[in-house]
Amino acid sequence: MRLIPEIDAFKDELTSWRRHLHENPELGYEERDTARFVAEKLRAFGVDEVHEGIGETGVVGVLRAGKGEGSVLFRADMDALPIEEETNLPYASKRPGTMHACGHDGHTTMLLGAARHLAASRDFDGTVYLMFQPAEEGKGGAKAMLDEGLLERFPAERVFGLHNWPSLPFGRFAMPETAAMAAVDEFLITLTGKGGHAAMPHQTRDPLLAGCGLVQALQGIVSRETDPLDRAVLSVTTFNAGHAHNVIPETATIGGTVRSFLPETRARIEERIQAVADALALAHRVSAETSYRHGYPATVNHPAEAGIGADAAARVVGEDGVERAPLPAMVAEDFAYLLEAKPGSYVWMGTGGEAGLHSPHFDFNDEALPIGASYWVRLASALLPAA
Ligand code: NI
Repeated sequence: MRLIPEIDAFKDELTSWRRHLHENPELGYEERDTARFVAEKLRAFGVDEVHEGIGETGVVGVLRAGKGEGSVLFRADMDALPIEEETNLPYASKRPGTMHACGHDGHTTMLLGAARHLAASRDFDGTVYLMFQPAEEGKGGAKAMLDEGLLERFPAERVFGLHNWPSLPFGRFAMPETAAMAAVDEFLITLTGKGGHAAMPHQTRDPLLAGCGLVQALQGIVSRETDPLDRAVLSVTTFNAGHAHNVIPETATIGGTVRSFLPETRARIEERIQAVADALALAHRVSAETSYRHGYPATVNHPAEAGIGADAAARVVGEDGVERAPLPAMVAEDFAYLLEAKPGSYVWMGTGGEAGLHSPHFDFNDEALPIGASYWVRLASALLPAA
């Protein structure tokens, strides 16, 4: 491990910031105290410009050094989750039902740590944009910032993101070369028949039986209609119908999630869900209404930037500590929108630990704070080498 010595020297401060954020979590688009904390810190470090209120609560710091024209954007997320914390830590959430269970408190702290060091050292040539986004957890805070002109106001040539990954051993980095995380969509199908007495089914049109057939038929879409070498998931996760043992219900609803990487696969699955629902409905004399909601697109790294990022990580944790072509994960991430707009890459940083992301027992591993902050600084030097 080769941490940046100055960052390692203020490790205790990083830990205290992280624990302060952990104690005071805020949900997506409500990160007012967090954003204020970030902006105050950036100003105290002497960051050249601090812009607040982008995409509701987003903050961007601008750091310049030298005469270079190059520019890069580093992104951290600030939001917490609607989870009741069960860690019993002395710095556990003070806000009932809200918890930093995904380590965004750590992400924010690591980027602040890098900002402090870069503002003091100015050991790069060009512009570093420090993006602190709201609402990564399903509410598209990155998209909200892009929609408010993020990349016009802060025209970064390249973009980089990072997420802690407890299942990866502490101190390891995994940087996918291309596809990192999946596109995520949701569907909800409402089957409407004719309710009636369970003893006289011939006088009804049973949406529940249609739904049973539909759940099975939907499983044929990925298994029979997509390329096995491509990756996709269709999971039915809700099936609601009926309320009494002697009543055939009028409606049944079936919902689920779809994960995919290629846009054509995504479009194909959407089209087939609709068609399969319509066909099953016809077979069972019920009607089907399908709604399909597009979530985040796939997070796809750009190979050149993934290589630069992996090299920067190797300068901190050694080449042995870097996985340069890990398999993608079927989870999703709104950094995808930034990677659609600009070349860049997204990395998983191993933090170890028992509890997984989104667990009520999760706590970001503070030992990783100087590692992540050192990674950002090494990446800035690699992308914008000082003259
Ligand atoms: Ni997260």
